[in-house]
Amino acid sequence: MKILVLNGPNLNMLGIREPDIYGRETYQTLVEKIKQHAQKIGVEVVCTQTNHEGVLVDEIQAAYGKMDGIVINPGAYTHTSVAILDAVKAVGIPTVEVHISAVEKREDFRQVSYIRAACVGTITGHGTDGYLEAMELLLANAKG
Ligand code: DQA
Repeated sequence: MKILVLNGPNLNMLGIREPDIYGRETYQTLVEKIKQHAQKIGVEVVCTQTNHEGVLVDEIQAAYGKMDGIVINPGAYTHTSVAILDAVKAVGIPTVEVHISAVEKREDFRQVSYIRAACVGTITGHGTDGYLEAMELLLANAKG
């Protein structure tokens, strides 16, 4: 099974940005953690981060026919992007939405997730472990 892990804007700033909310682990450490876990559960993984909405759409489209699952943290685009929702719907690849923080306990503007409607699951508030749980969810989903 091949999984694409997509991180959106400001997630490259992990470890620096608001550590009380997002923790002190860096993006690079997160990628290492994801790769190690992927190896452990026997899945192939590709990790990408971009600050640009259109690039997220491009990456989702490029996964068509190549990837069996997507783990995505769209960052702030979660709360604004119909284009990312449409891209996930267009490719039809099982997708899990991840948020490091418990978005449901934060500001009102974070209560809306456009992408959620197209996802097979959502994990919030589990820190970076949420990415590992999302990969497991996709694997379980693929095995039926
Ligand atoms: C986030 C939550 C979003 O509201 C925020 O804009 C982010 C990170 C999270 O991982 O908790 O950039 O997706």
